[in-house]
Amino acid sequence: MKHFGLHIWGDDNFIINEGTININHASQPALLEITQAIREKGYKGPLLLRFPHLIEKQIKTLFDTFKNAKKAFNYKGEFQAVFPLKVNQFPNFIESLIEVSQAYNYGLEAGSKAELIIAIAKTPLGAPITINGFKDKEMISLCFIAAKMGHDITITIEGLGELETIIQVNQTFNNSVKTPIIPKIGMRIRLHNAGIGIWAKSAGYSSKFGLTSTELLEAYELLKKHALLSHLWMIHFHIGSQISDIAPLKKALREAGNIYAELKKRGADALAAINIGGGLAVEYSQHEGKQERNYSLQEFANDVVYLMQEIAKSKGVEEPDIFTESGRYIAASHAILVAPVLELFSQEYTEKGLRLKKKNPPLIEELHDLYHSLSHKHAREYLHDALDHMESLLTLFDLGYIDLEDRSNTEILVNLIIKKSIFLLRNEDIDELQKLQDRIQERYLINFSAFQSLPDFWGLAQHFPVMPLDKLHIKPTNPASLWDITCDSDGEIAFNRDLPLYLHDIDVSNEEYFLAFFLTGAYQEVLGMKHNLFTHPTEAVITFDTEGKYHITKLIEAQNLMDVLDDLDYDTNLIDKTLKYRIEESNYISKEEKRELLGKLYLYLSENSYLKTIQAIDER
Ligand SMILES: Cc1ncc(COP(=O)(O)O)c(C=O)c1O
Repeated sequence: MKHFGLHIWGDDNFIINEGTININHASQPALLEITQAIREKGYKGPLLLRFPHLIEKQIKTLFDTFKNAKKAFNYKGEFQAVFPLKVNQFPNFIESLIEVSQAYNYGLEAGSKAELIIAIAKTPLGAPITINGFKDKEMISLCFIAAKMGHDITITIEGLGELETIIQVNQTFNNSVKTPIIPKIGMRIRLHNAGIGIWAKSAGYSSKFGLTSTELLEAYELLKKHALLSHLWMIHFHIGSQISDIAPLKKALREAGNIYAELKKRGADALAAINIGGGLAVEYSQHEGKQERNYSLQEFANDVVYLMQEIAKSKGVEEPDIFTESGRYIAASHAILVAPVLELFSQEYTEKGLRLKKKNPPLIEELHDLYHSLSHKHAREYLHDALDHMESLLTLFDLGYIDLEDRSNTEILVNLIIKKSIFLLRNEDIDELQKLQDRIQERYLINFSAFQSLPDFWGLAQHFPVMPLDKLHIKPTNPASLWDITCDSDGEIAFNRDLPLYLHDIDVSNEEYFLAFFLTGAYQEVLGMKHNLFTHPTEAVITFDTEGKYHITKLIEAQNLMDVLDDLDYDTNLIDKTLKYRIEESNYISKEEKRELLGKLYLYLSENSYLKTIQAIDER
């Protein structure tokens, strides 16, 4: 895997320079340099680094690509977009997004009351806001309040009940006003065509969302009856996230385009937009031949524009404005999780660990000779001999003929022989060697929680690109499994022969080694869970000034232990008092020691759950 598949998933966002991975922007700093600068400020444990220039790049690419498509087809409708808050609501992300998107009249999409408040507070007046998901009277009233503030807000109806509530809320809000202000209305349609991939359930007849044709006609009549038809301006659908294949999107576009045209011909004169939801996929793959999408953004945009134009032409209606709610595509690349390696678990398999005796069983002597005389020429033959000897030695142990030290020597020598053979034969495509990699895989203990930082890996086996921050000029040879620090066996990214990860052999007591997980900016932070009470990691926003120098800004440390307990509604004052009391009232601790213990206790309580190091080095 050349440079960890950077050419597949990296999108030119990074470059490799003198063995480190660097940001391909401005002064091109190494991720390692940024990481060390933050750690020097005292922030240990995992770090989530945000890069607003990558958010800007995605927004610009999205708008430019649709602009190109519109130009190529001479399309009359406008292109507009909003960011769906469910993908990442964290303030350091949303505030960066609003800042870098000013030139695009880019808005926000909300699916709950709390998200709606973020949208109302953060969207610049004039930029669009769309409201999806199930809504009650209060939520619809909040939309009316936003409209009265001057927001360009569209309420998307998910069911007829919601429309009835809109009619009712409109009466209370606008009954006695001279110039009624009413939000725009959208209708989510229940597509006949299903989506594709893990999130395909978002569309299709059994989908949780949207109106059937019968309900659409009923909604049309209701809008007309209550003089609201002039506010119906958008048709909406969403066929699911991470669309891997373009074909289902084309089907959905045809279906939605025809519904738009039919409603328009019926008399929905204000209807002017088609909202295609999200779904634009991100390339997470690190491995050749395992790409996750079969289309480019330009193909996606061309298909949308071309199909809308075709339908509008054949039905004789205006070309609609095109609206997208892409989230994953906008947010994924901006966040990188950097996590320190705490330990390698197979490090005991070194020559230093051998307990050879003056007189060893002959097969062990032979293993020892095989290891020392191993060369490229004999590697395969010696490897077979070693595996054969191992079987015999293990049988001898079971029968009581050799002792535990002999068995340990066997394990170490065979492991060393396999490792050396794989290294010697690394340029040859030998299936047998692939199979042996499971056996010598190295377990890297990583200072992070997969449940908190990569929940889609845990829940959906979603792959995220991973690579070390340095040593990239050295070919890594250890087949690697990654263990997180939760007490849960699911917190492991196991070595997978189909998607192999190789890392460097390092001695963590002598040198630092960091792994970076990329494309973690979409969904991971908000879906992350506090399993074992590991919280959102320390985060920072990395900006660049006009001279290209980078700055570490908006540092937010992971929550401290007491804050975590407070979140669970523990009475932290009581916990504090109890801990203090148990030290102060102890009959076994001297006065001086009590002072010292209390000092330590309060220092530890002010820190977060992540580990500092598990080596016996006192960092303080
Ligand atoms: C209605 C709607 N719009 C947009 C999105 C964002 O999708 P994506 O992140 O795949 O672009 C979603 C995600 O589920 C959604 O439900």
